[in-house]
Amino acid sequence: MAVSTSSTLDAAALRADFAYLDPRQHGKPLAYLDSASSTQKPRQVLDRMRAFYEHEYANVHRGVYRLAERATEGYEGARRTVSAFLNAPSPREVVFTRNATEAINLVAYAWGLRNLGPGDVVVVTELEHHANFVPWQFIASKTGAAFRHIPIDDAGELRLDALDGLAREGAIKVVAVGLVSNSLGTINPVSPLASWAHEQGAIMVVDAAQAAPHRTIDVQALGCDFLALSSHKLCGPSGSGALWGKAELLETMDPFNLGGEMIRSVALDRTTFNEIPYKFEAGTPAIAEAVGFGCAIDYIGEIGLPAIERHEHELTVYAMGRLGELDWVRLFGPPAERRAGIVSFDVAGVHPHDVAQILDWEGIAVRAGHHCTQPLMTRLGVTATTRASFYLYSIPEEVDRLVDGLHKVKKRLG
Ligand SMILES: Cc1ncc(COP(=O)(O)O)c(C=O)c1O
Repeated sequence: MAVSTSSTLDAAALRADFAYLDPRQHGKPLAYLDSASSTQKPRQVLDRMRAFYEHEYANVHRGVYRLAERATEGYEGARRTVSAFLNAPSPREVVFTRNATEAINLVAYAWGLRNLGPGDVVVVTELEHHANFVPWQFIASKTGAAFRHIPIDDAGELRLDALDGLAREGAIKVVAVGLVSNSLGTINPVSPLASWAHEQGAIMVVDAAQAAPHRTIDVQALGCDFLALSSHKLCGPSGSGALWGKAELLETMDPFNLGGEMIRSVALDRTTFNEIPYKFEAGTPAIAEAVGFGCAIDYIGEIGLPAIERHEHELTVYAMGRLGELDWVRLFGPPAERRAGIVSFDVAGVHPHDVAQILDWEGIAVRAGHHCTQPLMTRLGVTATTRASFYLYSIPEEVDRLVDGLHKVKKRLG
């Protein structure tokens, strides 16, 4: 690994950690520009998971033998790693989930069903990922609470001037906002929104699925109450994610799923539940995946989040500059200074799926679709966009290949 404690990273050297870049796999080197969807995995994470399965594996928490203790230590060590990564006050505030979606559903069900009712208002945003939109819409409809959104302006940024109007609609109880938009890359002003939420007496739920891989997250500085993230978006395995929540809130919540380690005692007439965070971890968890999640956090931590963020920013500036030269390409979203490494665009007269198909023939992987943000697509007046997204292993030559590929798209279909 090319470790960087300074402000830059050596992407060319880091690429040696990623087997997907082996040209023998694809005939030509793959320009993987779909990291917002899921990231590739470095050998370090894969090796750690293999070693865990081979030498440290058993079910966690229940065994008294040494191997089970070792497995439990691996799993709980990963929890401490996630906790430190988020600057959480305590690892007991970190619940392992399958992914960010499950983490948000946990809060929506376990907090929302108990605390929401008629006269209350749940506020999301117009550019929210469905994972932080639909659970709230669903639980609001179940409880009789109103479901409202903060609109965006034409640049894809939140219109904070709408907040006063929302506050007049009822008792705001939940404000659920993504830190970084997966479709536009917009970096949302979560700290001021958390202050506003608390002034209203609401909880602040942050979807950090798209932010945690790229920027330093400090739950205490953000001032939120819950925060969700996924391992697979930060070089870790899929099947593992986490919810951070304030202990005083987690403690008052009902369980989400039932069975296994989340139980303290069962009698014929009554069951009592384990303490947090175990109260929310029903059944055998994704043990090796949690260990891989922790290893991935160590991996990106050694490179340094500020260096990753700077690297992606430089690529974004470069990509927006090059794509901006094409008058048949429409770029969506805010200026590079206020976005993460995500560039969504439209090629005049060509459906995004056709764009992605032709780019694939050139060995360029981008995503085409609504990116699980259909309300945003409606606001933009499109059904889909083409999206290129970057990570620590992305390089400017891949942006050049994207631009060359788009010229081919234009020639064939434009
Ligand atoms: C902003 C955002 N939130 C939530 C999710 C859901 O993540 P997961 O599928 O890992 O649950 C994603 C995934 O694309 C995302 O980009």
